Amino acid sequence: MTTTTRAPGPGFFAQLLDPAQRADPYPLYARIREHGPTRLGETPVVVLSSYHDCATVLRHRAASVDRHHASIPLGPTPVHDLAGSLSGELTGTASMLFLDAPDHTRLRRLVAKAFAPAVVRGLEPRITAIADAALDRAAEHGQLDIVTDLAYPLPITVICELLGVPLADEPQIRQWSTLLARTLDPVSATVTGSRPDPAELVRANNELHDYFEQLVRRARTQTGDNLLSALIAAEESGDALTHDELIATCALLLIAGHETTVNLIANTALALLHHRHHLAILRTVPAFAESVIEESLRYDPPVQLIPRIARDTIRLPGIDIAAGDLAIMLIAAANHDPTVFTDPTRFNPARGDRHLAFGLGQHFCLGAPLARREAAIAITRFARRVVNPRLTDDPPPYRDHLTLRGPATIPVTYSEIIPI
Ligand code: HEM
Repeated sequence: MTTTTRAPGPGFFAQLLDPAQRADPYPLYARIREHGPTRLGETPVVVLSSYHDCATVLRHRAASVDRHHASIPLGPTPVHDLAGSLSGELTGTASMLFLDAPDHTRLRRLVAKAFAPAVVRGLEPRITAIADAALDRAAEHGQLDIVTDLAYPLPITVICELLGVPLADEPQIRQWSTLLARTLDPVSATVTGSRPDPAELVRANNELHDYFEQLVRRARTQTGDNLLSALIAAEESGDALTHDELIATCALLLIAGHETTVNLIANTALALLHHRHHLAILRTVPAFAESVIEESLRYDPPVQLIPRIARDTIRLPGIDIAAGDLAIMLIAAANHDPTVFTDPTRFNPARGDRHLAFGLGQHFCLGAPLARREAAIAITRFARRVVNPRLTDDPPPYRDHLTLRGPATIPVTYSEIIPI
């Protein structure tokens, strides 16, 4: 370990893991950022929080996503870490999110076409119909919880339709996904603390794997024009991807395709309810949604941190990250770095897209165009149709998840949901 010595903050990482921080972790992020890059005690774990440090590592050639490079035992995916001694019972292989080139390049190329901006534009009418149907249902029930009634149903429906996953299976998928999203929280490698039951995580991992095994088996006997059939065709054509890679890709897309976007829609709605003049503009100027979404991605990012493992020494001002070290990049802290964003705690949709919410470099979010469109449409329909929405719970309750942070519910009162 070749760090310049620097005392770690006073248990700040434990504080970050504390669910009590979930509603507003930004003052803590500011303290961590002011402290500078920090090694957690004697561990090979380094926490980075400035824009410069996070962006440098995300673009760095020696920054790997492959956990085999770690000097402490990390499994091929976080679920393997959390599973600990049960890892032998796990089925499946790592998805592209945890693979370096050349495997990463090969797998990413196979799915990239499905999420290109032109393809996403073609989905707009369907996304709008799903958003409006969700608001219609809420109007029928006479109450609106932005998370349960809009932010969740929209992206889960879209990704299920893209993958050819029957929506009837959504309740089961929700259980697996909620658990597996927790495996992205960097608890096992760093500090002790509350963590989900490993046996449950292993079960969720394996059941989701088996679920896609069956879905693929059924899809092979039918002709389809969805992403799943395209991936099956690639698998059957030869060496494009293995069967296990096909399953891992489906599972990744299913989870990444909605867990994050739910938070983007929810976080944006919350920001607009706190900044009502922007909500008023959006009601009459739908094109404003793009700037609002971009600022929401900076201001309150759905993914709060990204891990990397150094394959070789990475030198940053104030710290050397040695080969085998785990770097945890607090991108939510970087998005509030005052050396890059003037008055960073202010919600200002005029800033542009210079945030790290979708990552940077080779693993830059593949679904960014889809996420942006889904969120822009959801928030535009909400602003247009829901008259005088008011928060009933401020701050709303948050889910436990640290990495994929977002509100559990956002109940609002309103005077009317305008019919279309
Ligand atoms: C607001 C919504 C979203 C956010 C904030 C988000 C964020 C991210 C981030 C930060 C990464 C990079 C992780 C890393 O560097 O280790 C990533 C990767 C990825 N995202 Fe997203 N994502 C969102 C929506 C989506 C959607 C809708 C999909 C697919 C339908 C998707 C699919 C992926 C995939 C496949 C990767 C892995 C890319 C790779 O390894 O090359 N994401 N996302």
